[in-house]
Parts: sequence; structure tokens; C-alpha cells
Amino acid sequence: MNGYRPTVATISLEAVRHNVHAIQEKVGNSMVMAVVKANAYGHGMLEVARASLEAGAQWLGIATVDEALALREAGLSAPILILGPTFPDTAEICVANDISVAVGTFDLARALGRAALKLRRKARVHIKVDTGMGRFGFWWKDLIPVLPELKKLRGIHLEGAFTHFAVSDIADPSYTRWQNSNFKRFLEATARAKVRFDIIHAANSGAILQHPDAYYDMVRAGVMLYGMLPDPETRPSVLIEPVMTLTTKLVEIRHHPKGRFISYGRTWQTPRKSRIGTLPIGYGDGFSRKFSNRGEVVIRGSRAPIVGRVCMDQTLVDVTHIPEAEVGDDVLLWGKMGENILKVEEVAQWMETATYEVTCALGPRVPRIYV
Ligand SMILES: Cc1ncc(COP(=O)(O)O)c(C=O)c1O
Repeated sequence: MNGYRPTVATISLEAVRHNVHAIQEKVGNSMVMAVVKANAYGHGMLEVARASLEAGAQWLGIATVDEALALREAGLSAPILILGPTFPDTAEICVANDISVAVGTFDLARALGRAALKLRRKARVHIKVDTGMGRFGFWWKDLIPVLPELKKLRGIHLEGAFTHFAVSDIADPSYTRWQNSNFKRFLEATARAKVRFDIIHAANSGAILQHPDAYYDMVRAGVMLYGMLPDPETRPSVLIEPVMTLTTKLVEIRHHPKGRFISYGRTWQTPRKSRIGTLPIGYGDGFSRKFSNRGEVVIRGSRAPIVGRVCMDQTLVDVTHIPEAEVGDDVLLWGKMGENILKVEEVAQWMETATYEVTCALGPRVPRIYV
């Protein structure tokens, strides 16, 4: 990557810091974990992790051992939790690097305990309690009778217990309330069994925004850290700022008579004499093919529809109604450019997906510029 490409994602670390502050204000005394897995939802893991910690986040959440090691190798000493399942054969590297691990099986717990005894330290364990997400972890009721066994495991420090919500971002609160009441019943059972965890946590962005009774000792903020809402139904109860702006430049403008086919598959035909602009971005960059004949971009303050199929490296837009548009003009694909705003929330609808996937999908070929 030599920097000749006009297609760039500009990442506002100021917006990240603002969002951390806004989340902290909302959750009061609870700690904030910045969830920076998947390259910080496409924004750049190290940069976002550093900005979040600077702004007061106390924990980092990632999904894989490799992500955790990359943070440690970059010199970050903050507590890190691997939120996803890990194989027992990675226990030693996790313990050696002081990485906290979500534990959903006794196999993993025992492997961590063995590694800890070997390395003469404690393994930092967060017990993953399934209260209705059904992804991984112990079903909460199954865990209660085996709590004494958990307590007896050698080498283990029970640093945390946590659950994860399946629909905390939708308008109907009932399922999340049910999950949270399961979690509370589990916690009551741990108190009766005298099993102590330092940090209880449950809330993702949806719960931070809509379920204050799920804050506990720490919240895990992902999508809202990036200034995006998890779902069109989510109540935006915190003022967050978008972090990523994706822009490119018009690289060519072609004049076509009425009736020309545009791009692969001949899915669009000029309905009149047309001016069609070429953008140097495509699905090879993670700019979805779903945008074909339905997405829009902003050029000189006007919306220009994407016409024909999005290609691997190019996308075509109709600029007939923007006569002042010329080669070299800046093009907003999402985010904020000057006065113009194109929300990832709207882009996600064209892509028939959640905001998460829009930015996560943005590939490594697109340089990230940090401001
Ligand atoms: C266990 C866990 N906690 C927290 C988060 C952050 O969720 P969100 O991005 O909705 O805030 C995730 C992300 O998927 C997760 O898997």
C-alpha cells in the first residue's frame, strides 16, 4: 500500500474518545470494556484500543487468542478478555500473557488451571453463563449444581462471570428482561454457594442504551463505540458520534447515449442520455455487491445512485443530474464529508444487514487514516 489510492477510510479517534466518555457517563460507576475485536469492527484494533484506554475505558474485549497477543505485542498492558471460545491447547499462551479467558467448559478451565500451576501464576477466568443466547458457555441452571467443583479448581482465579444478550437492541424488552432475571438467579446461587467473582458483566451496546438494570460492574461496548446503533429499533439514549468516513474520488466520467448497458450482467440500461461516473472501489474492498442498483453516494452535496453491478474494483454512479460533477471530485460513501452525512445505518439497509457488517467488511486494501 503506497498511498496512491483515493479510496480511504478516515477514522476519527476524537469520536472514539467522545463515545467512551458518553458511555461512561451513561453507565455511572460501572467499568467500560472497549470491544475491539475484528480489527475494531474494521476501524483498526490498536488505534481504537489506545484511544479508548486514553479516554478511560479499563478493559479491552477481543474474540481470538491472536487478537489478544497482537495487543500485548503492541505493548498494551490493560486487562484483555477473550470473549469467544478458545481451545484448551492455547491455555498456556493465554496465562503467560496475562490474558483473561471466557470459559464455557470444564475442559478449558482445567487446561487453564494446569497451565497456571506450571507457570506458577493464576489463570484469569471469566465464566460464560448462557442465559438465552445459545451460543457458547454453560446453561445457567446446569452450572448451579457444579459451582462447588468450579471453586475447587486449582490455579484458577475466578475474575469474572458474564452473560450475553441476544436481542437487547430491539424495542421489545421482554426477552432481555428474562435473560437478565436468569442471570440474577444464577448470581444469587453463586452467593449461596460462596463462589465469588470480582467482575460481573452483561451489557452490550443494546443493553447500555436500553437496559440500565444490566450494567453490573462492567459494560462491554462494541458497536456504539464506533458511533453506530446496533439495530434500527434501538433507542439512541446516548449521543454518539460516527467514527468512520469512507470516501473516494470520481476517477472517470463517461457520456452514454440512451439504451447503453452498464457493468456486468447488463442489469442497468441508461434510460436517457447519461453521464456515468466511475468510482475506484468495489467488493474487493468490502464495498458490497448488494449495493448494485440500490445504494447511493454523495457528490457535490447531491445523492448519486449506484447503477449496474458493483464490480471487484469499480462502482458506477449516475451523475447526469449533477452537471457540475467532474473527475477528481470527492465522493462520500458513508460517514461525514463537510456538511454531508450518509449514515452507516442507511447503508446497512441497502446491504440488508446490520451496521456491524458494513464496517467489518471493509477490507485491508482500503487505507485507514487516523485523525
Ligand atoms: C460477548 C460480547 N460482548 C459484547 C459485544 C459487543 O456487542 P455490541 O457491539 O453490540 O456492543 C460482543 C459483540 O458481538 C460480544 O460478542
